[in-house]
Amino acid sequence: MRSSGSELYKKTEERRSVVRCEMDIATSADVAMLVDRFYGKVRVDALLGPIFNNVVQDDWPAHMATLYSFWETMLLGTGTYRGAPFPKHAVLPVEKAHFDRWLELFLATVDENFSGPKADEAKGRALSIADTFARRMGLLPPHTVLLQP
Ligand code: HEM
Repeated sequence: MRSSGSELYKKTEERRSVVRCEMDIATSADVAMLVDRFYGKVRVDALLGPIFNNVVQDDWPAHMATLYSFWETMLLGTGTYRGAPFPKHAVLPVEKAHFDRWLELFLATVDENFSGPKADEAKGRALSIADTFARRMGLLPPHTVLLQP
């Protein structure tokens, strides 16, 4: 007998709860995995890829090391990142659409790999920093927010 639409939907939801990763971000290795998977998407993204590859060029290992330390400092409090990221972004040829895409990819990467309070914190931090960068760059008019037209 064929299953009804709602039964099929329920099966999909059951499968998803098994397939979905129920693990939170807890260690440096978790942060490295998140950062690797996120920049794996960024590097091949039609909108963001060219901007990153143009600036970073063949220096990806050093760039990744900086980003591991940034996100470890944000999420695990290691204090290993001491840079100032905003000025590096202020000179990039970007618009609101780039920040929207960056956030879309980041939030999706977190959700695909982790869930829990730290995963929520990672998404919240990304949203707030992206909002701050975009606003300081004059890309977000008042009453506008990222991820909305
Ligand atoms: C439109 C979105 C974004 C683009 C196109 C972008 C692009 C870049 C590029 C090209 C660099 C390398 C800069 C350089 O070495 O001169 C960089 C560095 C960095 N980005 Fe972004 N970025 C974006 C958003 C963000 C956001 C929202 C965050 C934080 C949540 C972030 C965190 C960083 C950090 C920590 C660095 C390293 C800065 C350093 O060298 O100390 N980026 N980004």
